[in-house]
Amino acid sequence: MTDDDKQHGANGRGDDELEIREMELDDLSSVFALGEKVFTADQWPSLYRTWDEYELVDLFSSDGRYCLVAEYEDRLCGFVLGTLIEKRKSSWRYGYVLWIAVDPSYRRMNIARRLLDRLTNRLIEDGARIMLVDTDPDNKEAMKFFKRAGYGKEVRHVYMSRNLTGTSAYKRRRRD
Ligand SMILES: CC(C)(COP(=O)(O)OP(=O)(O)OC[C@H]1O[C@@H](n2cnc3c(N)ncnc32)[C@H](O)[C@@H]1OP(=O)(O)O)[C@@H](O)C(=O)NCCC(=O)NCCS
Repeated sequence: MTDDDKQHGANGRGDDELEIREMELDDLSSVFALGEKVFTADQWPSLYRTWDEYELVDLFSSDGRYCLVAEYEDRLCGFVLGTLIEKRKSSWRYGYVLWIAVDPSYRRMNIARRLLDRLTNRLIEDGARIMLVDTDPDNKEAMKFFKRAGYGKEVRHVYMSRNLTGTSAYKRRRRD
């Protein structure tokens, strides 16, 4: 572990160490459980990506370098999952923060910020020039967090939906 891998606790939690490290196979169940606790569909109904085990395992196998966890007193208390995007016909590379979460009992200790900084540094090393994130505008905590971390230039994007249960194709499928 390097010095950079260790940070000291804050907000009255004493001098215990926070470790930021790459996610390992053994972390998958804890990361999944923390995501289940934090990314609830009723909280952000417009969340278009789904937190499920496939999403996590896929990212772990395709982008393991950008899957980081935070451990405080040997307890997994946060994670960030990102990716590097290379657009066709563009020499620019973009870092994308796909999921970031900190256990509610460990919030406002700068843990997410440390995770994000480490992810960002890795993406810079790999050529990223711009970082991207998307979040629901109603998710005030995340909005404040990302703004504090230097994110801005908001572009609002509208997701639309159509209920298919009234279509004949849907009804036919239900009958078959
Ligand atoms: C957003 C989230 C990751 C922040 O985690 P965190 O570890 O508490 O954040 P940090 O302690 O690193 O916060 C750094 C700064 O961001 C801002 N910030 C973070 N949470 C905030 C909140 N609830 N209210 C206001 N500002 C906040 C503050 O400026 C904070 O610095 P400060 O505590 O010195 O004032 C956490 O609230 C979370 O897990 N939310 C649910 C999951 C989620 O919405 N993820 C984002 C979408 S993928």
